[in-house]
Amino acid sequence: TKGEYDGSNIAWTGRGTTANLEEIVIGRCNDYIGLKNPAAGKKNCTLLWQTLKSVFASKDPCKITQDDYKPFLTMAEHDIPSGKSIFWSQTGELTRQYADIVKNVMPLESTLTGYMMNGLNWCGQRSSSELNYEVCPAWNECEENAAKSFWRSASVVYAKKASGEVKVVLNGSSQTRAFRTESIFGSIELGNLDTNRISSIQLWIMDNLSGSDKESCGVGSIAQLEIALKHKGFKFSCIDNYRPVQLIQCIWMPEHKSCNICP
Ligand code: APR
Repeated sequence: TKGEYDGSNIAWTGRGTTANLEEIVIGRCNDYIGLKNPAAGKKNCTLLWQTLKSVFASKDPCKITQDDYKPFLTMAEHDIPSGKSIFWSQTGELTRQYADIVKNVMPLESTLTGYMMNGLNWCGQRSSSELNYEVCPAWNECEENAAKSFWRSASVVYAKKASGEVKVVLNGSSQTRAFRTESIFGSIELGNLDTNRISSIQLWIMDNLSGSDKESCGVGSIAQLEIALKHKGFKFSCIDNYRPVQLIQCIWMPEHKSCNICP
């Protein structure tokens, strides 16, 4: 049954641990501190990997808590410059592309922890010290799964560090809602933002170029978010289809009417 995976009874349906996880994680760590962001300071990438692996190796992959990752996250911590924090929900790919191009924002995936683990899968198994390369719990198959607890815990650390002018990128064409209180942004990051450190929050509501304009600034779940921000005492502004980000969407659809520079 689910929650009782012991190596003989494959109950999960998520992708197994990424092949060569150790080499990838240690390599990415060295790439990050050596080339991508030397300001992160000196880190022992082998020790970081060992600390990370000890969180989930030989353990039930559904019994890994957010707290379990704290030693690793503390060891990997580094400054996030003021004004560079950018949160997202249902716009991960677009936000990463924007960050890679403009280089003046630092989403979680551009911090050491996020950079090391982005796009990877990992989990252990109770019956063996080998990681499970066959299957891992899918995101919703259990609450305290190895990957979900990692991203939640990393998000708490990331949100607490935000300062200056903060950005939030949401999807105005979401099939559900642009702002979901149950998302990591809505349930974890929002509550950990510090009014004393943050000067203002900019919401960027991006519609898919070919998708429908379901929600906008001041409408639907965005209005709910704006009320929540106001109650918490944040200064905020909201922009529909922030042009620099829209121009990245336009790379894939240059003929779209929203992409026409000289109408
Ligand atoms: N199945 C698999 N993965 C999922 C699922 C799911 N059902 N739901 C979320 N995830 C993982 C994916 O890796 C996805 O890219 O969480 C990521 C973000 O999910 P979204 O719903 O798009 O957004 P949200 O839950 O708000 O999390 C994004 O949290 O990671 C931080 O700083 C980051 O602000 C960002 C926010």
